[in-house]
Amino acid sequence: CGIVGYVGSQQPSGRPLEVVLEGLRRLEYRGYDSAGVALVSPGAPLAVAKKAGKLANLVEEIDMHPLPAATAAIGHTRWATHGAPNDMNAHPHVSDGVAVIHNGIVENFALLKAELHAAGVVFTSETDTEVVAHLVARAYADSSDLTVALRTVAQRLQGTFTLLAVHRDDPTTVVGARHDSPLVVGLGDGENFLGSDVSAFIAFTRDALELGQDQVVTITPTTVTVTDLAGTPVEARRFTVDWDAKAAEKGGFRSFMDKEIHDQPHAVADTLLGRTDATGRLVLDEMRIDESVLRAVDKIVVVACGTAAYAGHVAKYAIEHWCRIPVEVELAHEFRYRDPVVNERTLVVAVSQSGETMDTLMAVRHAKEQGATTLAIVNTHGSTIPRESDAALYTHAGPEIAVASTKAFLAQITAAYLLGLYLAQLRGNKFADEIALVLDELREIPDKIQQVLDRAGRVREIARWMVDTQSVLFLGRHVGYPVAMEGALKLKELAYIHAEGFAAGELKHGPIALIEPGQPVFVVVPSPRGRDSLHSKIVSNIQEIRARGARTLVIAEEGDEAVRPFADEVFTVPQTSTLLAPLLTVVPLQIFACELATAKGLDVDQPRNLAKSVTVE
Ligand code: G6P
Repeated sequence: CGIVGYVGSQQPSGRPLEVVLEGLRRLEYRGYDSAGVALVSPGAPLAVAKKAGKLANLVEEIDMHPLPAATAAIGHTRWATHGAPNDMNAHPHVSDGVAVIHNGIVENFALLKAELHAAGVVFTSETDTEVVAHLVARAYADSSDLTVALRTVAQRLQGTFTLLAVHRDDPTTVVGARHDSPLVVGLGDGENFLGSDVSAFIAFTRDALELGQDQVVTITPTTVTVTDLAGTPVEARRFTVDWDAKAAEKGGFRSFMDKEIHDQPHAVADTLLGRTDATGRLVLDEMRIDESVLRAVDKIVVVACGTAAYAGHVAKYAIEHWCRIPVEVELAHEFRYRDPVVNERTLVVAVSQSGETMDTLMAVRHAKEQGATTLAIVNTHGSTIPRESDAALYTHAGPEIAVASTKAFLAQITAAYLLGLYLAQLRGNKFADEIALVLDELREIPDKIQQVLDRAGRVREIARWMVDTQSVLFLGRHVGYPVAMEGALKLKELAYIHAEGFAAGELKHGPIALIEPGQPVFVVVPSPRGRDSLHSKIVSNIQEIRARGARTLVIAEEGDEAVRPFADEVFTVPQTSTLLAPLLTVVPLQIFACELATAKGLDVDQPRNLAKSVTVE
């Protein structure tokens, strides 16, 4: 879910509503099952509007039934956990002058609800959040202090939450509490902001405060007070948001997804920027892990979910090759619950665009408990995963708004490669000149991505022809294998088409039974200049499926004539080394999924049932 809070001057105006709606617009990628706002102003009753579905429905509702001027406001965009996504279950939830919004899950809500039932409270929704609203109202009746009330209630809740509350009788205060869910503060001039992440307020301020676990924050127009759950004041870290607010706008593209696909040359270039010293040695300033610890690492485990996990898969091939350290890649939710073998010599690398994915965060915590060193490869500053990890390596992809990840994927691979090269340098596995050669080649990648983008006309055309396709398969070998899986994931996410990615060598062990005449199959072909017989093996695989009637859509390197006779279509990418090829070969697959979904009339930025930042387990 996405959360925004705002408090401005003592004089009621339209600004609180404006700021909160703008924040919700920018946070809508965090969930779009419903949206709602609550406004307070001196001497007036609480004003609430909420509506199932996307933010546009709420805006329409407010246009029809305008809300009064206000001094403070909170707003919410929901990804449903408890209760169906309807008007009734939309946030804010209200009780006796209090309005509450919530991101997360209150695990002991049934118990608390029973207690309130027994006390005669009548419920109007099925949500765990309404329980919190009633508890806060009752605690406020005892203390007449919203901060004290929220703190008292927060102590009783189990599970994960970010909560924001306003009270009719305290119209220049918004109080927030966080436990295992994100919340950041934006510092304005005579006004202050709260948000699930900085995109909630980058249109208004770049000055921000990072809150820690189990902290409560009270904002008024001129003050920000942070305490722990016991009420003891704590220092919050101040930081400046370096994202450009414009970077979070569509900038002439049809969709954020389209724009973000086109941002990829920048995402990779920016992630590479400033990583070497005057002598050309790789320096990762943010990596505050003792070099002796890194030298002693005997295993790396990458934990991540979704697209970020495929970035980890790609990185495994490179890091093992460069560093000779075994690398395991595991879905964070599986890692956490299977008693993994992790110890002081393990480096656990969490890869996450948002830095908030709960499954990944839990894996980091588990790894720390086992004594592992933890490193976060993350795109979003001020987020939880880097804060809880021993060190962070930031990708500089800029804000990624479309729910399905594209530019963050390329930036994650780039950052993981920098990590691999850095470890190789540190451990002396590779000579400096070899590392410098890979870095030089990496620096050429942004231009090459641009070339792939420039020649995407044909893949778009094919995608539009394929709107009625029921199933698409993707094959790859070596680093092309995770690329195939990512290509399939993009198509599932965006176009709701059945898609599967396979290791091409595995084809004959089962999936080949799926091939029937006309079945479209994308094949990611490695460079013919690469090592071993990787290329010839995959050319054989293409022949095997073609013989059975498959329509072969091949991604191959420029000048690769050997695949042409067996391909129905060839989409070429510029030449690069085998390990760097994923940064190019995935791009036509992203464009294919985006174009096909757009041609189907689907909302590629907000696919059904998904959320960008999944802050529940
Ligand atoms: C969600 C998104 C995916 C994303 C995954 C991991 O499921 O829909 O697009 O890849 O989370 O997100 P993260 O922020 O941790 O990279």
